Amino acid sequence: MRISVIGCGYLGAVHAASMASLGHEVVGIDVDAEKIEALSNGRAPFYEPDLPELLARGLGSGRLRFSTDIADAAGSLVHFVAVGTPQLKTSGGADLSYVDAAFASLMPHVASGDLVVGKSTVPVGTAARLAKLVEPTGARLAWNPEFLREGYAVKDTVTPDRLVYGIADGQTASVDLLNEVYATAVSADTPVVVTDYATAELVKVAANAFLATKISFINAMAEIAEVTGADVTQLADAIGYDARIGRKFLNAGVGFGGGCLPKDIRAFTARAEELGRGESVAFLKEVDAINLRRRQRAVDVVVEELGGSVFRKKVAVLGLAFKPDSDDVRDSPALDVAVQLHGLGAHVVATDPEAIPNSTRLHPQLSFGTLDEALAGADAVVLLTEWKHYRALDPSSVAAQVTHPLLVDGRNALDADAWRAAGWTYRGLGRR
Ligand code: UGA
Repeated sequence: MRISVIGCGYLGAVHAASMASLGHEVVGIDVDAEKIEALSNGRAPFYEPDLPELLARGLGSGRLRFSTDIADAAGSLVHFVAVGTPQLKTSGGADLSYVDAAFASLMPHVASGDLVVGKSTVPVGTAARLAKLVEPTGARLAWNPEFLREGYAVKDTVTPDRLVYGIADGQTASVDLLNEVYATAVSADTPVVVTDYATAELVKVAANAFLATKISFINAMAEIAEVTGADVTQLADAIGYDARIGRKFLNAGVGFGGGCLPKDIRAFTARAEELGRGESVAFLKEVDAINLRRRQRAVDVVVEELGGSVFRKKVAVLGLAFKPDSDDVRDSPALDVAVQLHGLGAHVVATDPEAIPNSTRLHPQLSFGTLDEALAGADAVVLLTEWKHYRALDPSSVAAQVTHPLLVDGRNALDADAWRAAGWTYRGLGRR
């Protein structure tokens, strides 16, 4: 099938390459010439495991190409719109200007019988509005939210755990086309939920709101653990054995960040307020507040352990990305904590396997270095992104590199007993 993908960011680039890997003929389109140049040459403009290989295969097969010209969408039967919906600068609401611009520029190139498929995360009600723009072309609109996680984006796209198709009443032909696009997943018995636009839009934000709430729930327990001497990690293990609760997404620490969870809960709150149902999701403000407090808590623990001031103390920050296996620093708790420590006068040397270039662009005032440079002579080591490489560090050899063996584990990812046994003062968040 011939497919166009409008928007080649984290979502669109992975989607385009994945669709080509499934045998479709794909053109990825973006207004950013630099991004298109990189993708056309097989270079992923961001770090995502498996994407470079997929790009190379797609480009090599001739089934995948990239363009800055929206007219190249003409001739495709299915057009995915996968542009970003960042948070507005003026409020918590979603900025729909990229979605609106993508639809406006795409419509002249859409033919009767085509299917336009929205993948961007949008406030409920957006698809119904956009359907009116699509209607005059004779094409149809479906809303097909994406649930991929950064770091597993290729796997999540090629073998999703569910597919959601939001369609207008009676447009069952859209379902047939989408089933053809996702034939590999459909034939592997992936659950398919066929529903209306509003439900499809809400499924996406409800899923992210639930995940954010789960993380903030355990972080709220961490706050209680801190004043009672309890251990949040053991608490998470114990409640997680209950299959109704489950252990996933119950890792307490510096909380959630990235380009999705934080902005999605804020946009959901803003949209619910517009709809006169603000009280229904008022708890998401608390979820957001708990999340942001945990960053401050990590800073406070470092200050406390360094005797009340970090001024002129060397702090090694391990990890800058919002999570491992990503170079994304959007709303990253790790980068935020590094910036706060720097603001308090600490000599922060931050390191990350992939996220230093993006961090440097945002915060050139910080010092960045290799892991060894960060650790050399450090008064405190703060783990903020649990890359595998950091989890595997040997406490005894790291102890030989630093001035003071003080470790603040902002992700509760290390073996506290092993680090203590090697002479370290180990502090987790919400842990004894
Ligand atoms: C999230 C969702 O998990 C995806 O399903 C969704 O498609 C995506 O947003 C999106 O809307 O595009 P992602 O932002 O890649 O995916 O990251 P997650 O794996 O959800 O992690 C989010 C944050 O929560 C990270 O900062 C992570 O460190 C933190 N986290 C996660 C915790 O603090 N504790 C946990 O137990 C789990």
